[in-house]
Amino acid sequence: MSERTLLLAGNWKMNHDHLEAIATVQKLAWSLEDAKLDDASCEVVVIPPFTDLRSVQTLIQGDKLWLRYGAQDVSRHQPGAHTGEIAASFLSRLGCSYVVVGHSERRADNHETNEIVAAKIRAAVGHDLTPILCVGESLAERQDGHHIDFTLGQMEESLAGFTAAELDGLVIAYEPVWAIGTGETATAADAAEMAAAIRQRLAERFGDGLAAATRILYGGSVKADNVAEIVASPDVDGALVGGASLSGPDFAALCKAAVGK
Ligand code: 13P
Repeated sequence: MSERTLLLAGNWKMNHDHLEAIATVQKLAWSLEDAKLDDASCEVVVIPPFTDLRSVQTLIQGDKLWLRYGAQDVSRHQPGAHTGEIAASFLSRLGCSYVVVGHSERRADNHETNEIVAAKIRAAVGHDLTPILCVGESLAERQDGHHIDFTLGQMEESLAGFTAAELDGLVIAYEPVWAIGTGETATAADAAEMAAAIRQRLAERFGDGLAAATRILYGGSVKADNVAEIVASPDVDGALVGGASLSGPDFAALCKAAVGK
């Protein structure tokens, strides 16, 4: 067994307004109750849209729910004249533990480069937010056989200029673009192969300590019925889940299946 705690994170993307968010988190908490999960077994995180975060914070803190939450993006800028941006310090004040950076949908829709992603990580770690750095190849790169080089290249450029100490707690999510929202899941062997390559490159660049401590997630059409096989690999420490995290009971079933309950 690895020392790394299993992490199950639900990225809601642009789904659920703040009222739906409250209902979803309540149902998730109720559905998880019988499994008696605790910090020793796993960590369950919801990642709602920005406008839901205050409601989610109030619910989780008020009811002392055993759940953490995070944001789907963060500005690389300090607070100031940046219309529409959300500063890392604001997310920190809202009690966020995590922030997703470099999701392929943001890379595609908002032209986020690895350099921008690195600047977002810089902002996040400066405010005690743990980055969940998303990397992963498109179908063309996989078909060409360049998926490992491509994905490791994205990771290295996104982490350029950081020291191991600055990246303490880092989470990497391997999300092959062709598997997101398509029903196509990478095989457990594909996920394991990439996770091992990511960990080895982290060791080469940042040392064995960071490589051993970093949690590597798989994301892309993860469901309750395939999660156990995916997280069985020693290098895969959890899942970043989209569609299957939108329903509280479904996400709870997925979390229980991942832990083996
Ligand atoms: P799906 O689980 O809907 O494929 O989404 C994966 C994802 O992009 C999570 O960030």
